[in-house]
Amino acid sequence: MLSFISHSPEQTRQWGQSLGALLRPGDCICLQGDLGAGKTTLVQGIAAGWGAHDEVSSPTFVLVNVYRGENNQRLFHLDTYRIESPAEAEELDLDSMLTQGPLVVEWPERIQPVLPFEHLWIALTLLDDTRRQIVVEATGRRPQQILAQLPSPHAPGH
Ligand SMILES: Nc1ncnc2c1ncn2[C@@H]1O[C@H](COP(=O)(O)OP(=O)(O)OP(=O)(O)O)[C@@H](O)[C@H]1O
Ligand SMILES: [Mg+2]
Repeated sequence: MLSFISHSPEQTRQWGQSLGALLRPGDCICLQGDLGAGKTTLVQGIAAGWGAHDEVSSPTFVLVNVYRGENNQRLFHLDTYRIESPAEAEELDLDSMLTQGPLVVEWPERIQPVLPFEHLWIALTLLDDTRRQIVVEATGRRPQQILAQLPSPHAPGH
């Protein structure tokens, strides 16, 4: 497990870049946290570090955003906030996305039954205006390898 406090959106993005640089097809990153916790901000960093050519946007009306990278690679960004039933979750076909690229999921708790066993679970907690607690847990061997390579920021005083 890795736990630290991010003191700014920039710090969250920067840490996300380190994570994004490690990702490859089949990797599933779950981002759990309340409204405004910083999930999409983290995805911006992940996408930049992964090498996305497209800008990250909140998939508020679209369920999935697909970003392109080098050699037509793809990064999938799923926001399940509007999913209402397990049947809808089943229809997502995460497996098909995961064979094509890494997958980042906002509101993963809403599609828990269809999440792959192997995943990185990142919980973001809003502490105040600018501080977010970030806790990372890995399930499975590959996610544990990713976790082991992630930087653990130690801001002064923490
Ligand atoms: N340390 C921090 N890390 C991330 N975001 C921060 C931080 N401090 C302040 N913020 C601000 O908090 C907001 C986070 O919004 P963001 O859209 O990333 O949240 P979200 O978790 O995706 O919300 P939603 O559930 O609505 O999609 C942004 O306005 C961002 O600038
Ligand atoms: Mg969001």
